[in-house]
Amino acid sequence: MPSPADKAFGQGDPGLGRWAEDVYAPTDEVLAEVRCRAAEAGLPPIHVGPMDGLHLEVIARASGARKAVEIGTLAGLSGICLLRGMGREGHLHTFEQEPRHAALARESFERAGLIRQVTIHLGPALEELGKVEDEGPFDLVFIDADKGGYPAYLTWAEEHLRPGGVVLGDNAFGFGHVHQPDYRGADGAAVEPLRRFSERLASGGRFRATMLPTAEGLAMGVKIR
Ligand SMILES: C[S@@+](CC[C@H](N)C(=O)[O-])C[C@H]1O[C@@H](n2cnc3c(N)ncnc32)[C@H](O)[C@@H]1O
Repeated sequence: MPSPADKAFGQGDPGLGRWAEDVYAPTDEVLAEVRCRAAEAGLPPIHVGPMDGLHLEVIARASGARKAVEIGTLAGLSGICLLRGMGREGHLHTFEQEPRHAALARESFERAGLIRQVTIHLGPALEELGKVEDEGPFDLVFIDADKGGYPAYLTWAEEHLRPGGVVLGDNAFGFGHVHQPDYRGADGAAVEPLRRFSERLASGGRFRATMLPTAEGLAMGVKIR
């Protein structure tokens, strides 16, 4: 399934994006089925894009992640990608506040043959994260839930990642507005915390960080202290 127009990959050239998806083949039947089943159930199509799912798998693999946390499960698509990169020894704690989303995600992990490697936590992430702290420190934290929560999720990642662990924050471009402090449009409330998240990730002293120019912008930091 090609990327939707608003998740175009490749310098805004849809042809380049299609070529990349042909060559790198980020989608298979399992992932396509998750997107279809979620759409049929009326979930919003806010999963990571196809190439972004592949980025997650490859970053998880490259970092040798075995214990990971995901904040924002939706139907489980990004969680499947992360787990594929973590190998059979990997375990993912994923946090979701909507029961319907969590139920669909459970089905997705079952169909993907990954259900034994995942724990789905139901409820607002900030209330639930404390329950896994004993299992830390973690190798990787992927943040993709309510944008207002990003600064607090970053604080959690600072405390519960191992040195060398990786934090990833999706939507780092703030829907195209993160660089506009005076932006007051529809996504305005989401943009300001995304800006604070990036500023602290980049210069707070706990991470060496960058921003990968994916469709939505993927902030990535490696914990240095
Ligand atoms: C962008 S979607 C996640 C997409 C998913 N990572 C993927 O790419 O397949 C965001 C999800 O976060 C959930 N969410 C929003 N606020 C939350 C919170 N405070 N705690 C836990 N989950 C939350 C939403 O219900 C939604 O399912």
